[in-house]
Amino acid sequence: MPGNRIGGEIVGVEVFTSLNPCHPSQVLGRFPDSGPSEVDDAVNAAADAQLTWVRVPTPARAQTIAAAGELLASRKAELAQLVSREVGKVGSEAGGDVQEAIDMAAFVAGQGRTAWGTVHPSELPDKITYTTRHPVGVCGLITPWNFPVAIPSWKVFPALLAGNGVVLKPSELAPACADAFVQILWDAGVPPGLVNIVHGHRDAGEALVTHPGVRAVSFTGSVTTGRRVAAAAAETGPKLVSLELGGKNAMIVMPDADLDLVTDGVVFGAFGTSGQRCTSTSRLVVHSDVADEVIARIAGRASELRLGDPVDPSTDVGPVIDSGAARRIHAYVEGAIGDGADVVCGGRITGVEGCGGDFYEPTVLRGVRPDHRIACEEVFGPVLAVIEVASLHEAVDVVNASEFGLSAAVYTRDINAALHAVARIDTGIVYVNAPTIGAEIQMPFGGTKHTGNGFREAGLRGIEQFSETKTVYIDHSGRLQKAQIDTHEPARSAAERPLRQQV
Ligand code: UN1
Repeated sequence: MPGNRIGGEIVGVEVFTSLNPCHPSQVLGRFPDSGPSEVDDAVNAAADAQLTWVRVPTPARAQTIAAAGELLASRKAELAQLVSREVGKVGSEAGGDVQEAIDMAAFVAGQGRTAWGTVHPSELPDKITYTTRHPVGVCGLITPWNFPVAIPSWKVFPALLAGNGVVLKPSELAPACADAFVQILWDAGVPPGLVNIVHGHRDAGEALVTHPGVRAVSFTGSVTTGRRVAAAAAETGPKLVSLELGGKNAMIVMPDADLDLVTDGVVFGAFGTSGQRCTSTSRLVVHSDVADEVIARIAGRASELRLGDPVDPSTDVGPVIDSGAARRIHAYVEGAIGDGADVVCGGRITGVEGCGGDFYEPTVLRGVRPDHRIACEEVFGPVLAVIEVASLHEAVDVVNASEFGLSAAVYTRDINAALHAVARIDTGIVYVNAPTIGAEIQMPFGGTKHTGNGFREAGLRGIEQFSETKTVYIDHSGRLQKAQIDTHEPARSAAERPLRQQV
């Protein structure tokens, strides 16, 4: 029975339900709506367990993480099925979500035997200088619904390897996936109390962020909530706070691009996962020389996409997460029409026979200007805003005009143009001849400007966000040595100094 998972026990009164977005009458589970007291219990449990875990050598911590990865792999099909049912992802994408967690476990476990710091030469004789990492203690992790297994894994595995205890507060829209993920960790031998899960809404998140026992907060979600998280954490600090917020990801298409590749890339980037990825392609910045052809090709493919139940293998695009999301997406499309954009295809909330949930038609909007609302705000739905430009220079300016900076793509066969764009685009991730989605877990993930606060998840940087660097100086000279003194020798007059030392 799902509940909170605190100190190795499953506890809590189940009050809110998780529904299948394709069949909203299907309940996937009931979960506790937690608040400060449950969070306090979970943080205390994590703090207790961490005292033992921190004494486990890092390669041994890595072994537990590797075991969790193996167990995830053996339960991949069943977990992917749950992802499809709880958040509406089609089979291949649900499998990809779980695979990211499996890969993250393998990657993080591998780091258990790698360099944990750096050694540098000292400016003084008989002195050793190096850095090492040490845990922060308890990490509070708040995760969104759209990658309900992958994103918890991006946060939990690095936090554990770094020697921390964790409390996870998953989205109230995907509690069952997070619960299944943590069950697997427990089954794989993660010590009781080290990984806790507290379900609920805003109260639970707020209690976690402001808890004095939490020393690192990692949040993925909306800009509005992210700002509140940062402010609340700062007031109750000291805390490391890493934020992964919105995106307004753009794809540049130059006239020399391979248009087959462009079409495949846009269809996957804009309409995959019903456009509900942080990295989804939401702006197409296309050179006017090829705009008509590119738009016609995309619209042709978009209207062929099969909307349906994500567990049906013939479905290309599943439902949006709930009816509120469908209405929000539609309001953006109506706003864009009001601003002067034309609907090339899509543009409606729709239903599918046999499914009670809400779908949104893959939508292409033409005639969008960079200052239109549809070009500035994150829609989080299958809506592509097309902006025409006359040069690469203008395209890069349009990409950079966004207040977000997560992911961008440039399609061209000209290597010089591609590298020019890579250098000038102000985002955390840039793709050349590939869509804005599809980040790999061994690479840092995150963005500039309002997308984040300078941290990165995944890759080696993902471990840094859950640990503190300690700089160590060991002086074995047996005398007081002073750094930043311009000579290491007893002071002599300039005339006495050997010529090579005179300045
Ligand atoms: C997200 O949408 O929050 O690059 C994460 C991608 C995925 C991760 C997306 N690997 O699209």
